[in-house]
Amino acid sequence: MSREVSPSSSTMTDPQSNADQQYAADLESARSSNKEEMQQAVQKIREMYDSGLPFFTKDALRETMQQMENIEKGQPGTVSVRGLDGTIAQFSVQTGEIVSDIEDIERPGVEKFYSQARLQYETVEHLTALDDPMAFQPSFAYLPWKIVHAIQYRDATTKTVIPKCAHLPFEEVKEHFHRKRAEWEAAKQCEELRAILHSADIPPVRKIVAFACSTMTWDDECRHRSTVQHALILTLRDILAKRSNSGNPDTIACYAQDPVYTDSDRRVLEEAGIAVLDDPKGFLEMDEETVVLSLAPDIPVRQITADLTRPAMMVWDKVVDRQSQPPPAESHSGIRCLCLPADPVSPRVKSMVQSYVELDFPRDPVNFGRGTTIYIRRSPA
Ligand SMILES: C[S@@+](CC[C@H](N)C(=O)[O-])C[C@H]1O[C@@H](n2cnc3c(N)ncnc32)[C@H](O)[C@@H]1O
Repeated sequence: MSREVSPSSSTMTDPQSNADQQYAADLESARSSNKEEMQQAVQKIREMYDSGLPFFTKDALRETMQQMENIEKGQPGTVSVRGLDGTIAQFSVQTGEIVSDIEDIERPGVEKFYSQARLQYETVEHLTALDDPMAFQPSFAYLPWKIVHAIQYRDATTKTVIPKCAHLPFEEVKEHFHRKRAEWEAAKQCEELRAILHSADIPPVRKIVAFACSTMTWDDECRHRSTVQHALILTLRDILAKRSNSGNPDTIACYAQDPVYTDSDRRVLEEAGIAVLDDPKGFLEMDEETVVLSLAPDIPVRQITADLTRPAMMVWDKVVDRQSQPPPAESHSGIRCLCLPADPVSPRVKSMVQSYVELDFPRDPVNFGRGTTIYIRRSPA
C-alpha cells in the first residue's frame, strides 16, 4: 500500500521514517565499530604470526581432543578452545541432535542431524581474510580451530544413516584394495619411487602418518585413487624398512587419519597393518622420525606440520607460491566449502622446506595429482 505524501509532509514527523533512519544509523555505527575491531584483530594476528607464535601446538590439540573424548563418554557437551590471544570460546557439541530446517519438510520420513563433532582448522590466511564487519565475531577471531558438525540424513523411524553415496560391501573394498595394491606395486611409477628413495639420504624413520587419503568404500571413481594412496603407505614402509638395519617392516608403524573412513575402510586398513586415528591424533603422532603423507587434504596439514615438528620426510603437494596454488578441491568431508585453498602454503611452510631436499614424485596424476613431491630433511651440515 502506498503512503500519501501531502505537500506539507516535510514539516510533519513520520514515525515510520524516523524509525527507518534510526535503524540505518545504528547499523552504520555497528558496522564501523565492528570494522575497526576486525581490522585490529587482523593486524594483531599478522603480528603474532610474524613473531613466530605457533598457531598449532600438540598441548592445545590434546586438550581439545580430551574434552571431545569426555563428551563421548557422557560428560556435559561443551568444548572450550583457547584463542591465540588467550580468549576462551565455548562450543556446544550436539552430535546426534536434529537440525530443524524448513526445507526438509519436503523429505517426509527423513531427518537431518548433526554428525560427529570435528575440528575445523583455521590458517593464518583464513584468520586474516575477513571482509564482512557484520559477520565478525570477536570471540572467534583468534581461534586456530573451531568445533563444527557436518550434517547428515537418517531415516526418522529406524535412525539408519542415509549415506551420501552408495557403500560397497566390506569384501569388495578388501578385494579392491589387494588388487589395486598389487597393480600399483607392479607399476613403473612404483619402480621409479623405489629407485628414487634407494639413492636418497633419508633420516631414521619409525612412523608413517597419512592424512586425507579418503574413503575406499564409496561406489564412485575417487575410491580408486584413495585405494592406491593407502597402498603407497605400505610401499613407503617396505622401502624404508629395507634400508634400516633390521629390515623388518614391523619396526615402522603406519597410521591413517581421515574423518570420512567407514567401518569397512577401518577393517581393511587395520588388517593391512595401518592403524586408523581420529582427528587430531595423527598430528599428535608426528615427530622427527615420521613420514607425513598428505595429498589435497581439506585441512591445512602443511601449516599444522610446520608448527609441530620437522618430519624426516613428507610426500605432499609441491610447495609453490600462493598465486600458483590450485583451486580448492571438492570436499568429501562435508565440513565446509572454502573459497580459500584448504591447505595453503604459508611463509612458515616455505621456510620449513628450505631445510629439505625436494624430489619429484613419479608422475601419476590419476592416482596422486600433478604436483606430488617428496621432501627429505637434510642432515645437519
Ligand atoms: C579432496 S579430498 C582428497 C582425497 C585424496 N587424498 C585425493 O588425492 O583424492 C580431501 C580429503 O580430506 C579429508 N579430510 C577432511 N578433514 C580431515 C581431517 N581432519 N583429517 C584428515 N583428513 C581430512 C576428507 O575427508 C577428504 O578425504
